[in-house]
Order: sequence, then C-alpha cells, then structure tokens
Amino acid sequence: MSIQFDDQATFWLFGYGSLIYKVDFPWLERRPGRIFNWSRRFWQGSHDHRGTPDKPGRVVTLIKTPGAVCEGMAYRITAQEFAHLDHREKNGYVRLVTDVYFQDATQATGVVYIAAPDNRAYLGPATEQEIARHIADCAGPSGENSDYLLQLAHALRELNEVDEHVFTIERHLLALRSGA
Ligand code: BEZ
Repeated sequence: MSIQFDDQATFWLFGYGSLIYKVDFPWLERRPGRIFNWSRRFWQGSHDHRGTPDKPGRVVTLIKTPGAVCEGMAYRITAQEFAHLDHREKNGYVRLVTDVYFQDATQATGVVYIAAPDNRAYLGPATEQEIARHIADCAGPSGENSDYLLQLAHALRELNEVDEHVFTIERHLLALRSGA
C-alpha cells in the first residue's frame, strides 16, 4: 500500500528497534504501541551502523508472522523528518504503511521501516546462540553491535515487553562475555 505524504500534516512512525531508544528526531507525541502479524528478528545485516561491508553486524527487522504481536514506540512526526530517517535507515529498509494500536484501544495508520528478505544486506535466520556470537564480534560507525542489542533489550523491559528472541540472544551474549 502506498501513502500520500503530501496529504497529511503528521504521521505515526512505529519504532520496534533502535527507534525505541535512539530518538534523534523531533516528535510531537510519543506513545507505546503495537502492530500485529509481525515479529522482531535480528535477521538484517548492518553495513553502516553496527558493522561494516566486510563484516556486517546484525540488527532487527520485521518478519511477517500471522498472529504475532510486536510491541514498540510510536511517534507522531511531521513528514519532513522522513528525510533524516530514510538516510539513517538506508541500508535495506523501506517504509511500510501499517495499523498501529495504542494502549487505550485506539488505533492509527502508521509507517514502519522494514528490511525485506530480498534486500542485499539481509542475513536471514540463525539460532539465537549463533546470533549472539555474531553480535559479540561486530562493530561499526554507530558503535558495538552488542550495545545495540543490550540497549534494545533494556528499552523493551522499560516497555514491559517480553521478547524471547531478543532476551535469549541477550542471555547468550552475557554468557559469552562472562566466559561461560
Ligand atoms: C525501528 O526501530 O523501528 C527501526 C529498526 C530498524 C530500522 C529502522 C527502524
């Protein structure tokens, strides 16, 4: 589905990854929200933030999963913020229009960035242990890949969200760090 950005003054941007905790853009309103039928997965490669082209890190994307719920943070922003966000998320992500549901049972049409399996940086599935090992070994211009994982896990706990995929990778990473 495409959206006419000129027709509306503001938009709801749904963040499920670094957009939950790294908010480097102005917003008008911020509300915890959820989207349905998508799962957060560390299946996207990062050449430009948490890795390099020679050694891509692993960051999250959304995978179509009927019946799943993905919790995150929604921001009401003006259309002009998309220039910055499109640049920030240029490594394989595209905008998708989706319904966002809020805690007070209201909903809105929103926009979410996803990296589909046909993008060049996509890495795809691996076990949570393999993903933790991969993350432990990568870094890029935005910092260590492990900091991205740990910050995301912390931000999800602040939202009272239990994401077993993220938390299992976090457990493996912390075990690796402690030499276990
Ligand atoms: C997000 O936090 O919504 C997000 C994750 C990856 C790329 C772009 C945005």
